[in-house]
Amino acid sequence: MGKLDGRVVLITGASRGQGEQEARLFAAEGAKVVLGDVLDDQGEALAKELGESTALYVRLDVTQEADWAAAVAAAKDSFGRIDGLVNNAGILRFNELVSTPLEEFQQIVQVNQVGCFLGIRNVAPEIEAAGGGTIVNTASYTALTGMAGVGSYAATKHAVLGLTRVAAVELAAKRIRVNAVCPGAVDTAMSMPEGVDRGAVEELYRNLVPLGRVGQPEEVARLALFLSSDDSSYITGQPFVIDGGWLAGVSIV
Ligand SMILES: NC(=O)c1ccc[n+]([C@@H]2O[C@H](COP(=O)([O-])OP(=O)(O)OC[C@H]3O[C@@H](n4cnc5c(N)ncnc54)[C@H](O)[C@@H]3O)[C@@H](O)[C@H]2O)c1
Repeated sequence: MGKLDGRVVLITGASRGQGEQEARLFAAEGAKVVLGDVLDDQGEALAKELGESTALYVRLDVTQEADWAAAVAAAKDSFGRIDGLVNNAGILRFNELVSTPLEEFQQIVQVNQVGCFLGIRNVAPEIEAAGGGTIVNTASYTALTGMAGVGSYAATKHAVLGLTRVAAVELAAKRIRVNAVCPGAVDTAMSMPEGVDRGAVEELYRNLVPLGRVGQPEEVARLALFLSSDDSSYITGQPFVIDGGWLAGVSIV
């Protein structure tokens, strides 16, 4: 028996990274998964690998309300309903606040914050109609503390926690639980972009993070599974930090 047998979960940003691992794990636990992304080739290949009775890829730019409507319709057409959502799509840009162009700030808000809002707005009524379910929002370590150079990103991730708490309160009576994952440094294209000195990044986190390493996307997927399954049946409105102890404090020895 899988932890998500009979469930239908829409995952955004599912073509690679954490979203891909969430899709793989959720499918292995019995869910039908709807993969939304703007990286069509990777998303379609993943859906094909998981099998058409298990996975459907839809082009879903989370900033576009029409894409959300089409994704919901496609999911219902293929699998009959939706009872889970993982708002995972996100982008990161490095800049000091005083050097950040307005367009860059607004672009990050659109994807990370508006995308999450549109996901809740468009999918929660479907989850309610299915009799209840779960929403997992992807925030960040930077939803709970500051970090130089990622001001726009941190602002949106703080906002995702606000959305999470309000949605949890508003949707509880509709049998929908809403929680957030707050990853630290995770080994994906976001934290290890092409051309970056991988050894230098690993060395940085060996020193910064108490557990001495970056996290793996599969580890975040296991937390998203916990928050999407009945194992977390009495938990809603909470941020869950998964960061190897980074936020716990600094070491001076
Ligand atoms: N990697 C980290 O260290 C880290 C840490 C904390 C939080 N996060 C968050 O985790 C989530 C997943 O990131 P990741 O690490 O897997 O990075 P990633 O870049 O590998 O994956 C992000 C995915 O989101 C998709 N995406 C981007 N814009 C989109 C849009 N407008 N519509 C739909 N999809 C879009 C991308 O195509 C990509 O597939 C993000 O929300 C990110 O902010 C990542």
